[in-house]
Amino acid sequence: RTKLSRQTERTLALIKPDAIDKKGAILEQVCRSGLYITQLKMCSLSRDLAQSFYAEHQHKPFFNALVDFMSSGPIVAMELMGTNAIAAWRDLIGPTDSAVARSQAATSIRARFGQDNTKNACHGSDSPASAASELEFFFPSKGAGPGNTATFTDGT
Ligand code: TYD
Ligand code: MG
Repeated sequence: RTKLSRQTERTLALIKPDAIDKKGAILEQVCRSGLYITQLKMCSLSRDLAQSFYAEHQHKPFFNALVDFMSSGPIVAMELMGTNAIAAWRDLIGPTDSAVARSQAATSIRARFGQDNTKNACHGSDSPASAASELEFFFPSKGAGPGNTATFTDGT
């Protein structure tokens, strides 16, 4: 494998409103995956914030339902760090449609906790560029308070 295919990356993960009561089991699965949780907060999105977060989908037929859903209750936002974290987290959550996820592997997070093609338990950034902007959206680097200096005993 080339060096490029094994990057230490950071990605944005969300536990969506439909799965908020399953956060314990989901966090357990995150920890077992070997990805590090380097930032975490519980928060809620207004309709405006949900619209900006999902702006790339604004012309899709499901946009309004998606915004309603994402602003319907609390969510958990996490920065995950690890080798190929962006793809690793998307592999762990599984396909967008929870029914498709269940048809592929019973162990993915969307297979276990998702309901359908909208209420699908978790979000994961899909590229280094979206990870950078989505992390800045939830964890702005210019925020007040201590900066994130998380380090781990394995040197990560
Ligand atoms: P998308 O970015 O295509 O999926 P993913 O979350 O796997 O990156 O879509 C964003 C969200 O929009 C998706 O998680 C759930 C919702 N959505 C629908 O409600 N209906 C749909 O047909 C699609 C494709 C997505
Ligand atoms: Mg997406």
